[in-house]
Amino acid sequence: MNYDVLIDTALEAREKAYVPYSNFKVGAAVLTEDGTVYGGCNIENASFGATNCAERTAIFKAVSDGHKSIKAIAVVGDPTTHTYPCGICRQVISEFADSSIPVILIKNKQEYIVKTLQDILPGAFTKKDLDK
Ligand code: THU
Repeated sequence: MNYDVLIDTALEAREKAYVPYSNFKVGAAVLTEDGTVYGGCNIENASFGATNCAERTAIFKAVSDGHKSIKAIAVVGDPTTHTYPCGICRQVISEFADSSIPVILIKNKQEYIVKTLQDILPGAFTKKDLDK
């Protein structure tokens, strides 16, 4: 898989972050089953708990457009390191993705690392657990 479009989309989305409280910009991009890519940024709120992370913004855009299967996700936060998705976002990714999907952790356009969802969320609680 070529990650260029996902990386560019996440970097562009990061620029749209609404972060008046933390000043910590995050961008994300998701690849859906038909190849459509959605970007998202973090959107903060004066009531801090109402903040939405970039990953969830991108995922919710995709799902609300009818895409329930995510094939890859890219994330960029602090450009001096690799920012990993928070715990809530890992759980939300797992709702719409197989554990084998790549999670691309971007430092900048040239530097990124790739993990799987399984790497960052072992032992996930999923809809399968509710089928028992
Ligand atoms: N944030 C994300 O957007 N994604 C993550 O996975 C980690 C945290 C945002 C939420 C908040 O706006 C800021 O980063 C600081 O926590």
